[in-house]
Parts: sequence; structure tokens; C-alpha cells
Amino acid sequence: MKTREITVTVNGKQLTETVETRLLLADFIRDHLNLTGTHLGCEHGVCGACTVLVDGKATRSCLMLAVQADGSSIDTVESLVHEDGTLHPLQQAFSDNHALQCGFCTPGFMMTLVDFLNENPNPGEQEIREAISGNLCRCTGYANIVKAVEQASEALAKQGE
Ligand code: FES
Ligand code: FES
Repeated sequence: MKTREITVTVNGKQLTETVETRLLLADFIRDHLNLTGTHLGCEHGVCGACTVLVDGKATRSCLMLAVQADGSSIDTVESLVHEDGTLHPLQQAFSDNHALQCGFCTPGFMMTLVDFLNENPNPGEQEIREAISGNLCRCTGYANIVKAVEQASEALAKQGE
């Protein structure tokens, strides 16, 4: 079993760990760091449930090895809530608009959308639908998710004023 030491910054904290060279980033996040908000669905890049930010970019953690993340900054869904418990505008908007049911897909949607709204703070409905086209939800449907993104983009714009 080959191992290698990696240093990553996860949710703002730098850490060094020894990992198997073939360990998936998703398994590193879930099993080594106990950050189980990142979910694994298809495990081959189709469902989007495992999406995290790697250096600010939405990335499928089932398609990346932990060793490939050496030196990177990783943000998971656990990073969204503020220290005082205040929800991130996306989390609040998903709650307000009933944009989740079982919640399995939700962390992946959130991290996809954090990157999307950073790049496109005032998106139209079609742009939102395209942005989430790589994230599968099997129980809520997408109409309420789109509404939630519209609310979150307005809230983020107000925060930035
Ligand atoms: S678990 Fe990674 S895309 Fe489905
Ligand atoms: S809320 Fe259940 S799969 Fe999306």
C-alpha cells in the first residue's frame, strides 16, 4: 500500500495527513476528516452530490484523488454556516423555499451554487437551470431549488451593499 503525506487547508484550517495514494478526495473528506456533509451517490461523476470547492471551484470529490488536492484549499458544506449558527443565504433560501426533502443532494447543490453565484451574482432562471444541470435531485424537483437560488442571489447582493 503506497502512502503519501499531503497538506491541505480544509474549511480554513491547514492540516497534514498521510493518505493512500489511491484514496478518493471524497473518502478523505468523509472518512479521515469526518466531514460527512459531503455525500457520495453515484461515485462516478454523474450526480453532483459529492461537490466541494477546491481552490474556490466546484469540484466532484469522487473524481479526484486526495493526493491531487495536496497544497489546495478545500471548502465543504460544513463551512457555510456562520460560527454563531446563522445560516448562509443559500441554506436559508433552501429552507424558506422547501428546496429539499431528503437532503441527500443538497450539499452538492449548495457547493455548486456557491461557486456559480460568486461568478454570476445576478443570474436569470435559465442560467440557474444550466448551473444545476449537473446536480441530480430525485425527490424535490427543481422548481423550488431555482426559487431558492433567486432568493439567495438577492440576499447575497444585499449583504454586499
Ligand atoms: S458521487 Fe460524485 S458525482 Fe456522484
Ligand atoms: S432532496 Fe432528496 S434527492 Fe434531492
